[in-house]
Amino acid sequence: MKTRITELFGIEHPIVQGGMHFVGLAEMAAAVSNAGGLGIITGLTQRTPELLAKEIARCKEMTDKPFGVNLTFLPAMNQPDYPGYVKAIIDSGVKAVETAGNNPAKWLPALKEAGVKVIHKCTSVRHSLKAESIGCDAVSVDGFECGGHPGEDDVPNFILLPRAAEELKIPFVASGGVANGKQLVAALAMGAEGINMGTRFIATKEAPVHENVKQAILAASELDTRLVMRPLRNTERVLNNVAVERLLEKEKALGANLKFEDIIAEVGGVYPRIMQDGEMDAGAWSCGMVVGLIHDIPTCKELVDNIMAEADAIIRGRLAQFL
Ligand SMILES: Cc1cc2nc3c(=O)[nH]c(=O)nc-3n(C[C@H](O)[C@H](O)[C@H](O)COP(=O)(O)O)c2cc1C
Repeated sequence: MKTRITELFGIEHPIVQGGMHFVGLAEMAAAVSNAGGLGIITGLTQRTPELLAKEIARCKEMTDKPFGVNLTFLPAMNQPDYPGYVKAIIDSGVKAVETAGNNPAKWLPALKEAGVKVIHKCTSVRHSLKAESIGCDAVSVDGFECGGHPGEDDVPNFILLPRAAEELKIPFVASGGVANGKQLVAALAMGAEGINMGTRFIATKEAPVHENVKQAILAASELDTRLVMRPLRNTERVLNNVAVERLLEKEKALGANLKFEDIIAEVGGVYPRIMQDGEMDAGAWSCGMVVGLIHDIPTCKELVDNIMAEADAIIRGRLAQFL
């Protein structure tokens, strides 16, 4: 399949793997890229720019296909060494960056000069237009159903994608809630040029996470995610567990007085304990409603091939027969 996204990134299939904290290691990105999609290493999971450079080098040993790096711009007090991370990316020769969080304008001149294509992840049409106006090459339009941070507007992809299509000139991918070929076709029909998946890629053979995480995804239904940190305007969609229930109790009890310090036990530094050690109740971890559509643990190649084959069959068969 050829779309503006496959052309932009030099990939075979219009499928991107979104950055995921403590999931987007070299093994994950390489497996997705080897399957013909665009794998993404999560920059901030590497504690320093030097470690990111090593992770990129490790990925290059595992694939000769294009892959990218996610740079998440946090509202945090202690800002990570962003100039160092950007330099590590440019020096390593990586040609794709997925930005997310705050406006990436400050980093675009350096990235563009180095020939890096930038796809910015946004949860609204207004932020997508901003990304277009500052010179991003593409956007990842992340609907309310997504795992991670859906923003505060709560617009699901059935509305958000066609709205983005009404306004955007640059290509965009549908992000959030996607797991199969039916949804790829629907996304294309609504104006997207491909898909971005997070949660679905965690339940693959190559995802470098504890088996308990994959089993938790298989066991969950579309009713099992919760929104946390809404009172802090930092809403995150996570899989429900004991820690999330405790967190929501605190949110209810403290109301508008809730501070980040009150919930640090449930959200601070929990990713390694969950993703590496498989302690599934250690805290809140991002997970999309799409868990309801995940019933197996294929290899990335099987997953990508199945999505493309299903999309092909729907376009040529089911849709054509209606005409
Ligand atoms: C476990 C997990 C961790 C994530 N970490 C990040 C992150 O560090 N930076 C980021 O931009 N997005 C992050 N995301 C969001 C994904 O890149 C992607 O936008 C999202 O998962 C899409 O929704 P889906 O899970 O329904 O496919 C994360 C998602 C998950 C599930």
